[in-house]
Amino acid sequence: MTTQTTQAPPDLPLDMIIFGGGGDLSARKLLPALYMAHQHCNLPANTRILAIGRKNWTRDEYLAFMEEHSKPFVEPKALEPASWDKFLSLFEYVRIDVDSAADYARLAEASRPGVRRVFYLATAPALFTTICDNLAAVGLVDEHSRVVLEKPLGHDLASAQAINNSVGQHFAETQIYRIDHYLGKETVQNLMVLRFGNAIFGPLWQAPYIKSVQITVAENVGVGSRAGFYDETGALRDMVQNHLLQLLCIVAMEPPVSLDPDAVRDEKLKVLRSLRRMTDEDIARDTVRGQYTAGAVGGEPVKGYLQEDNVPADSRAETFVALRAHINNWRWANVPFYLRTGKRMQKKVSEIVIEFADLPFAIIPPGPRNYGNRLVIQLQPAESIQLQMLAKEPGSGLKMLPVNLNLDLEQAFTERRAEAYERLLIDVVRGRLTHFMRRDELEAAWSWVEPIIEGWKRSGDKPRNYTAGTFGPAASSALMARENNAWSEES
Ligand code: BG6
Repeated sequence: MTTQTTQAPPDLPLDMIIFGGGGDLSARKLLPALYMAHQHCNLPANTRILAIGRKNWTRDEYLAFMEEHSKPFVEPKALEPASWDKFLSLFEYVRIDVDSAADYARLAEASRPGVRRVFYLATAPALFTTICDNLAAVGLVDEHSRVVLEKPLGHDLASAQAINNSVGQHFAETQIYRIDHYLGKETVQNLMVLRFGNAIFGPLWQAPYIKSVQITVAENVGVGSRAGFYDETGALRDMVQNHLLQLLCIVAMEPPVSLDPDAVRDEKLKVLRSLRRMTDEDIARDTVRGQYTAGAVGGEPVKGYLQEDNVPADSRAETFVALRAHINNWRWANVPFYLRTGKRMQKKVSEIVIEFADLPFAIIPPGPRNYGNRLVIQLQPAESIQLQMLAKEPGSGLKMLPVNLNLDLEQAFTERRAEAYERLLIDVVRGRLTHFMRRDELEAAWSWVEPIIEGWKRSGDKPRNYTAGTFGPAASSALMARENNAWSEES
């Protein structure tokens, strides 16, 4: 799936330098993922991890932070005391106020010469420019260095371009790893294999044989402690601009000429550039914004978004988006792509539903409901692929009933599946860029999303309410129903 893209020796010692080392992302995702990579011998010998934070911690205080806040996120069966202690021995803590140029001298002292430096910027994107400028000023960036940029990369096209420009002054494009953790998910990578490793779907994977595509990423969690970030961001920027559009690209892209990073990213870029830009009229008709109100999820009562901590009482941030997109190219002409994501929905589920065209003529009378063939690719919580078909009900004349060809990938393969961050961190260490976004891809995604954000602002409308624990506002179902479609849980 991936290709080596750098000439640097793979065994160069590594200094992994994590900005935001005391933050939530590091604690819950990056450090546990690095532990797993360490435990499976996927970090180069002689690796050191330099955690950077603003707090005036000693090394021991940082290790205590890891014990309390990271260790609980390591898979329990992978946690071996000796291995964890060995992992902790790789760490240094360096206190830096990222705005203070003088502080970077401490990092220059702590990082070894002649190593590969990977700078992981797990901070607010507003700090990326300052951090990169200061790293370069103290001579820490060289041709072996790599930088990992966490999403969201900017809040609109102009801010994304500004970040890309300033990071690009110090790092070549092949040294920049823009992370979208969905691209590290086993199931998402498997989507490429499903499409490009199996001959049977190829001829059918286009209009008019495909009638519509649904992409749902539903979460049952609420905004949690991230209201400060989320309220400024909303679901369109937080999820659609990156994760959902990346899924759409993998479903819709042409076969790349190889798995070389640029070959894959060229094809994804073409999809993003073919997305039909929405006018105000399209936005009013084809998008639905929602915000959750108090309800119950999994039988437990939960607050509404406006009652969450740190959310302004008049917030218009959307916690749900559904929209209909079109790709203006030959393969997908007139095939609607329905995208939907939300917080506090009935359950956590990420799935892609490919709905095949109706029969040209029905010889056998349809059953009470008009089932078509569907390929349902479930990415989360379980990984499965189902092909929904019709079969004759035994002994019933010619009555047809739906049945599934069911591929349960979790049963088919029992090997350990690395978590997305672990897989992507290993890719960074090995110089594999295929599953990271290139600058032009990111900017093309913003170019499509931005008019929607602007259109919503111009309309002055508020997001529609939906009760926590449902699948979003009724208008989301209506969006589908208008074209005789239905979201998968409604059909
Ligand atoms: C992140 C978003 O990128 O993805 C979060 O910022 C969201 O708001 C998360 O909860 C969902 O990721 P996953 O892997 O749990 O589906």
